[in-house]
Amino acid sequence: HRHLLGIEGLQPHEIRFLLDEAERWVDAPASPPDRRLAGLTQINAFFENSTRTLLSFEIAGKRLGADVVNMHAAQSSVKKGETLIDTAQTLNAMRADVLVIRHGSSGAVQLIADKVDCPVLNAGDGRHEHPTQALLDALTIRRRLGSIAHKRVVICGDLLHSRVARSNILALTALAAEVRVCAPSTLMPAQVERMYVQPFTDFDAALEGADVVMMLRLQTERMDGAYVPSPREYRLRYGLTPERLARVPDALIMHPGPMNRGVEIDSSVADGPRSAITEQVAMGVAVRMACLDVLTRRARGVEGWA
Ligand code: CP
Repeated sequence: HRHLLGIEGLQPHEIRFLLDEAERWVDAPASPPDRRLAGLTQINAFFENSTRTLLSFEIAGKRLGADVVNMHAAQSSVKKGETLIDTAQTLNAMRADVLVIRHGSSGAVQLIADKVDCPVLNAGDGRHEHPTQALLDALTIRRRLGSIAHKRVVICGDLLHSRVARSNILALTALAAEVRVCAPSTLMPAQVERMYVQPFTDFDAALEGADVVMMLRLQTERMDGAYVPSPREYRLRYGLTPERLARVPDALIMHPGPMNRGVEIDSSVADGPRSAITEQVAMGVAVRMACLDVLTRRARGVEGWA
C-alpha cells in the first residue's frame, strides 16, 4: 500500500503489523528524537478542525526527525476559492515526502492521493474513514485487555456521521472482536447491516456483557437540518452515566474525543478509573509514528510494508 486511506482494504495481518510497529514507540523516550525521517518534509494539510490528530501527527513527525509543516485551510488560499486538486498539485510541487490530510468530504483524501507523488495518510475524511484513530483504539484495547479477538465492543452514539465508528468497525471485526453498535434509529446508518456487527437501539441491552464501551459525540455540525435529539433527551437514553457504568463495572471506557461531557458521557465516567481516554491520546502519537515510518520506507529504501 502506497497510502493509508482507510482500514478498508487492509488485511488483518497488516493491521496487526501496524499495531506491532506502534508498540515500539509507546515507551520510547521523546528526546533525543529518533532521526529516521531526517531530511523528509511532512505536510499536514487540515481542511477541518482538529486538536488531537493534528498535534499528534506533528509530534510524531518531529519525534522521527521530519521537517513538519502545517497548513490550516482557514488561513490558506482555499478561502480564496482554490480547488482541492489545485491545492494538491501545489503541495506536490513543493516536493513533500509525506502528506497528512483531513477533509470534510468523504473521498477527498483519495482525490488528493491520486494527484501526488508521495504517500498520503488520511487524518479523517467526512463520514468515510479515520484509520489512525481506529489503529490507536485497537492498540489501546490490545494493551489494556491483552487481546482483541472475541472481546465484546459496544460502539454507541452518532454512527451515521462517524468516520471513527466506520474505521473502528472495520478494524475490530477484522481482528475478530464481537462488535455491537448502538444508536437512535435516526442516527443508525443502513450500511451497518453489511458490516458484521449487531445493531441495537436500546443502550442498556447493548451493554450486556461488554468488555469495551466506546462512546461517540453527536456531530451536530454534520446534521444539516436533520432531527437532532436534545442533549437531555439524548443523555437519558444514550448517555454513559454512572448508573449505566454500574451494569458493566469491568468494561474499558473509550471516547475518541472531543467529548461533550454531560451528553454522551458523564464527567465522572470519563475521568473514572475505567476510562482509557487519555491513554487513547498517548497511543495516537505512537500509532502515527509507526504509520509515518512505515509509509515512508519505500522512499527511504527500507524494507517492510509498502
Ligand atoms: N479524535 C479526533 O480525531 O480528534 P480531533 O478532531 O481533535 O483530531
